[in-house]
Amino acid sequence: MKTGCIILAGGAGKRMKSERPKVLAEVLCKPMLGWVLDAVGGFPFDGVAVVTGYRADLTDAYVMSRGESIVTYLQKEQKGTGDAVKSAEQMIRAMDCVCVLNGDAPFIDSDTIKASLEYHLEKKADVTVITAEISDPTGYGRIIRSDGEFSAIREQKDCSPEEAEISEVNSGAYWFDAARLMSMLPRLSTNNAAGEYYLTDCIELTKKCAAFKSANPEIVLGANTRKALYELNTIARNNIIEQHMANGVSFVALDGIVIGKDVKIGCDTTVMPNTVILGNTEIGCGCNIGANCHIENCKIADNVTLDNVQAYDSVIEENVKIGPFAQLRPGSVIRTGVKIGNFVEIKNSDIGMNTCAAHLTYIGDSDVGRGVNFGCGSITANYDGINKYRTKIGDHAFIGSNTNLIAPVEVGANATTAAGSTVTKNVPENALFVERGTTRVKENWEKNFKRKKK
Ligand code: UD1
Ligand code: CA
Repeated sequence: MKTGCIILAGGAGKRMKSERPKVLAEVLCKPMLGWVLDAVGGFPFDGVAVVTGYRADLTDAYVMSRGESIVTYLQKEQKGTGDAVKSAEQMIRAMDCVCVLNGDAPFIDSDTIKASLEYHLEKKADVTVITAEISDPTGYGRIIRSDGEFSAIREQKDCSPEEAEISEVNSGAYWFDAARLMSMLPRLSTNNAAGEYYLTDCIELTKKCAAFKSANPEIVLGANTRKALYELNTIARNNIIEQHMANGVSFVALDGIVIGKDVKIGCDTTVMPNTVILGNTEIGCGCNIGANCHIENCKIADNVTLDNVQAYDSVIEENVKIGPFAQLRPGSVIRTGVKIGNFVEIKNSDIGMNTCAAHLTYIGDSDVGRGVNFGCGSITANYDGINKYRTKIGDHAFIGSNTNLIAPVEVGANATTAAGSTVTKNVPENALFVERGTTRVKENWEKNFKRKKK
């Protein structure tokens, strides 16, 4: 049996008041469509399609960026969910069973997709709707049952006052028999309050419809407005933090803590307030992260302490201490035992084991050996206004305070640069490099200077 998945992502989401398609609105800094695609990735579909429409260029670019084999179909005009599914006709024809998902309901999960297919097959249904009971059903399509039998989905706009009381709602996720779906789509009409082709009208076109009630009501939650989006963020944030607690991560207080959906954290790590951890970040065991850290796409090993650190696309090995007030820009590798102190910025550099940059240092495009010491205020001048060059520093070199290393330049192992030097030539191993003007001290200068001026 071949199964396909069609994700509806063409709507503008006018109520979101955005210039971007609604499905790209983010929950914990990841587009809602990304959440749905993650769930879809956990089920062995034979084909996955995304229906695009409003600002299809942006949706296409996001889908492409995931590097998965997903096809997109353009729905030229947004004439409703029924019409959107029709745009993916090619996919439907190639499959036996088709799962349709809303791109704006991020909490669907692969277990629900799997369990609902089993139910759909067991019931030999033409269409199975995934439903849930929620406390505030406003805005969702209601599940109508006559004599206990599921018979229709009524949209909010079309509900009678009694129907509006129903708390079982349509999640916007369905399984269809592909051939039956093909025969139903041309029969949908726009005879409703919104004047759209409702996919939900398929229910009334067949007696063989089933409703799979999910045990987890969150799977239905969607966002049509910024307020609803904020509510989804709140739910996701709490769920994720609770999951980390279950895995052995400590939180002293949750204020300002945001952890993205794909972040992994080891046991006995503590995350302190105002810390945001996003992207594909992995953090080891026994770390102290925060307060006030922002970490994106970093690999952090065990026993690392980060205090008021910003770190992007970087690797930090074990037993490293960074902060307060330090920044790791993309491409930095911080080796075991390194210490980085306040007002230090590192970019695209490899910092060797046990090296120390305790204060006010900029290290860019550099390869630094082990046990190097950077004095206060030392910097690499890696950019001449046109090109960027690398700096190489050998093991146990001592970079004196306020040294300027003008790249490309090399400092050999065990070499020392005198404080205040501007290094424009390679320094051999074990050498002392000094570059200073002649020192002059003029005695009684102030008195003489003033007399001349008079
Ligand atoms: C839809 C369901 C409703 C359900 C709810 C769950 C219908 C008619 N109603 O309502 O029963 O409770 O989802 O969240 O299906 N889209 C397109 N092209 C279009 C219109 C929409 O691709 O022409 C996409 C949207 O981008 C969105 C999804 O389809 O991702 C759902 O559309 P939306 O307008 O949000 O439907 P709801 O009013 O939420
Ligand atoms: Ca919606």
